[in-house]
Amino acid sequence: MKKQGCEIEAIGINYTIYTQGKGSDQGQKTSPKIKQVLRDVNLRAKPWEILAIVGPSGAGKSSLLEILAGKIALQSASIYINRQPLDKSRFKKVSGYVTQRDTLFPLLTVEETLRFSAKFRLRLPDHELDSRVKSLMKELGLDHVAGARVGDDRVRGISGGEKRRVSIGVEVIHDPKVLILDEPTSGLDSISALQIIDMLKSMAENRGRTVILSIHQPGFRIVKLFNSILLLANGSVLHHGSVDLLSLNLSLMGLEIPLHVNVIEFAIESIETIKQSQDSLPIQQHPNKGVVVEEGRKRTGSSTLQQLFQQSRVVDEEYVDVIGFDFYHGFANSRIRETLILTHRFWKNIYRTKELFACRTIQMLVSGIALGSIFYNVKDDLFGAEERIGLFAFILTFLLSSTTEALPIFLQEKEILTKETSSGSYRVSSYAIANGLVYLPFLLILSILFAIPVYWLVGLNHSFMAFLHFLLLIWLILYTANSVVVCFSALVPDFIIGNSVIQAVMGSFFLFSGYFVSKQGIPDYWIFMHYISLFKYPFEGFLINEFSGSKKCLDSMFGACLITGEDLLKEEGYGNEHSRWRNYVIMVGFILVYRFVSYFILRCKCSGTGIRGFLY
Ligand SMILES: Nc1ncnc2c1ncn2[C@@H]1O[C@H](COP(=O)(O)OP(=O)(O)O)[C@@H](O)[C@H]1O
Ligand SMILES: [Mg+2]
Repeated sequence: MKKQGCEIEAIGINYTIYTQGKGSDQGQKTSPKIKQVLRDVNLRAKPWEILAIVGPSGAGKSSLLEILAGKIALQSASIYINRQPLDKSRFKKVSGYVTQRDTLFPLLTVEETLRFSAKFRLRLPDHELDSRVKSLMKELGLDHVAGARVGDDRVRGISGGEKRRVSIGVEVIHDPKVLILDEPTSGLDSISALQIIDMLKSMAENRGRTVILSIHQPGFRIVKLFNSILLLANGSVLHHGSVDLLSLNLSLMGLEIPLHVNVIEFAIESIETIKQSQDSLPIQQHPNKGVVVEEGRKRTGSSTLQQLFQQSRVVDEEYVDVIGFDFYHGFANSRIRETLILTHRFWKNIYRTKELFACRTIQMLVSGIALGSIFYNVKDDLFGAEERIGLFAFILTFLLSSTTEALPIFLQEKEILTKETSSGSYRVSSYAIANGLVYLPFLLILSILFAIPVYWLVGLNHSFMAFLHFLLLIWLILYTANSVVVCFSALVPDFIIGNSVIQAVMGSFFLFSGYFVSKQGIPDYWIFMHYISLFKYPFEGFLINEFSGSKKCLDSMFGACLITGEDLLKEEGYGNEHSRWRNYVIMVGFILVYRFVSYFILRCKCSGTGIRGFLY
């Protein structure tokens, strides 16, 4: 009989990692140690069924699932889908992988989270997307929390069980044939855990999905829902087959399952005994040992076992591949549409991050007014000119160094980006463009709030054009800082490292700006820092905007002007009106470089293959 679905068969999965272990010489030195995480693992997962991978913590369950989901490169194994060798990129499209940790945007509602995921993965008109999301929420039992925010440690949101369902929903929105879940019930109470497995069971039974999950301590009622289990210990398979078969095997080994103890829990407790009795069995090392462990047991002479095994063989069907018909290659959306959807999602997140939105707005307005009142109506003489220069230097330091607040947001996004791009939801380049666009209006509002009070209270160059140039400079400075933060957040693993790296970079840029140490005073071997300093060009821009063109006299004697603004610029070695545009171009160039570097890093990280992933 032929049935639709994906049957997965893996033969000979081995997985070795290098860890930092203690060296042999008195434990002083650390040297790389090889650890075999998985050893000759064979498995078979059938559609319409749930295969549960069980075993103690550290047994290799997560590693095995990651290999099956294609997150870890195969070292030595053959994986077949419906007896055809696995095509990784195709498999990504027809499978969903739910990680142990929920990586969701805390500020989006449940419905929004699912709708965005649907938009990325499906090429459907809006009303069909809506009905798909609605029916999925019903299936997941999430209708009552559709409008609630997901939440996280800081923001109160939906419960842990509901969050797990949302994570599952995000991965099943495109109706994948294979669903792989890493400990979907960990951290949940027994009722929520049962509900989740029950839901997965109906997904398997009603839609013919192949469900593979790992589980740590399943309860009685959960165990009943599993069609097949794979018992792992120290990376080796101890049992692969039905739960009933496991009970029989255990009793054959002379292990009596105590009353009220579930067989999986008991098996995990008795791992040592199982191993010993398996080692003493006269079974030959078969290349397909894991899958045919049942066969080995059968030969031990029990007719019951034989019958059981035969039953499982009789129902062995052939499955037809539906991959080719249902799924398209490539991405569901065009680059432009992806960018629009991402920009929309970014905007929702920024807008709802009230701390960021409100604090930044108030901070800019208050500091603008405070600076304006401190430097109120600065005089038009030499002393006043010095004060203006000091003011510009301060504005630059303030704006460029008060920018790390967006770092945690970028770091959180990075985790979700990696997950979404690796499942083929969208392109990294769309993310980079959307990320670049979405901050522009927000930063413009901040620039206006800051520039108006500072400019007019201090009484800088009275021409309105000069004010617009000042505004443009502030906007560019904020955008440069934002780009630097994006770039370093792509590079660093966490907030602490990111924060200190950014502070150090900004600090050194300020030192080499030409304000503290004049260009002539910088040693030759450090002069390159002067040219790549983010302070140099906007600083020069401020000075040109203030002193060039205006015929202001800074010092006069007997009615004759001794020094004008232009003279001051010349004397300090700054450019004239013509350099104004050159500075803008260089600043835009810096922004593009930082943005491109961040794209490059993200692209390498998301492809999981380092630089090679970018080049090919
Ligand atoms: N990238 C890694 N670095 C160090 N150790 C690892 C890595 N991946 C797996 N391991 C080790 O391999 C073993 C199995 O890990 P894992 O698959 O997470 O087990 P499980 O999910 O069953 O708890 C553990 O001992 C773990 O420490
Ligand atoms: Mg694990």
